[in-house]
Amino acid sequence: MSQVDLRTCFAGLSLKNPVMTASGTFAARESGEFYDLSRLGAVITKGVAAKPWPGNPTPRIAETYGGMLNAVGLQNPGAEAYIESELSYLAQYDVPVIANLAGHSVEEYVAVTECLNETSVAMFELNISCPNVKEGGIGFGTDPRMAAQVTEAVKRAAKKPVMVKLTPNVTDITAIARAVEDAGADAISLINTLLGMRIDLKTKRPLLANGTGGLSGPAIKPVAVRMVYQVRRAVKLPILGLGGICTGEDAAEFLLAGADAVAVGTAALVNPTAPVDVVEELAAFMAREGYADVAALKAAFVG
Ligand SMILES: Cc1cc2nc3c(=O)[nH]c(=O)nc-3n(C[C@H](O)[C@H](O)[C@H](O)COP(=O)(O)O)c2cc1C
Repeated sequence: MSQVDLRTCFAGLSLKNPVMTASGTFAARESGEFYDLSRLGAVITKGVAAKPWPGNPTPRIAETYGGMLNAVGLQNPGAEAYIESELSYLAQYDVPVIANLAGHSVEEYVAVTECLNETSVAMFELNISCPNVKEGGIGFGTDPRMAAQVTEAVKRAAKKPVMVKLTPNVTDITAIARAVEDAGADAISLINTLLGMRIDLKTKRPLLANGTGGLSGPAIKPVAVRMVYQVRRAVKLPILGLGGICTGEDAAEFLLAGADAVAVGTAALVNPTAPVDVVEELAAFMAREGYADVAALKAAFVG
């Protein structure tokens, strides 16, 4: 089979292919220097709040086997600067933009939703799963009632579809997934980073100024695939799968596990063209294996 059809419908969005960038690992201008952003299924931008946030003290990044730890703390320039800089730059590309939303409280999540309602953003991704902010963030993502509460409030305010991003730092991921589905979410993305820590053997202190940080990269891929598999069996919503995807074959694993689309994160920090490489490699894998489209690949899962 020479040609495969990668076109995908994801929560009402028509995508050229099922590959997106993962929030926080993609900066539009920098990536735009390396490849044509219109080749992606969609771009998910870094977490943005209504007002600017300073982020955590440095050092905020540490390497680990098969991945990295980060404790950036959702540093962002606020919605106004995001609209003027990131969104206006992305307007030249034929690619849907998904805005990742950050907040310390339900009111702050609603405030940033309202700031971005009248923009070109195609979908919101509600980050209730960041391990690096003291209030909000992961608090919402680990408690089904709070996850439902913030989802409901943002859905009420939003004029675009709302995808909710789950944290893996829970005992039962399906309980949170069901809660956000019942609260009206249009899609689910998973996973965010796993809480981790490293210690500097010279100073005997944590390597990150924040103490702990979020583990990402290939090391977390089996955890992410397992959670996508579990959530697929618990909810009907479209699923965006991510966590450690570096190649088209990694992406195929997530699609087989039940994801409808995938995102490439840490791999793009090592190789800036990783997201478009994954598009090409996924197409090559499907052609080699004889799958004409994404639905045919997904249907091949035997689990
Ligand atoms: C430096 C860095 C910054 C991140 N910032 C965000 C963010 O702003 N919002 C968010 O929802 N996830 C954020 N993430 C999590 C990623 O989007 C992704 O869920 C996670 O890293 C797992 O995917 P990966 O292993 O492919 O990186 C960040 C990850 C990294 C490494």
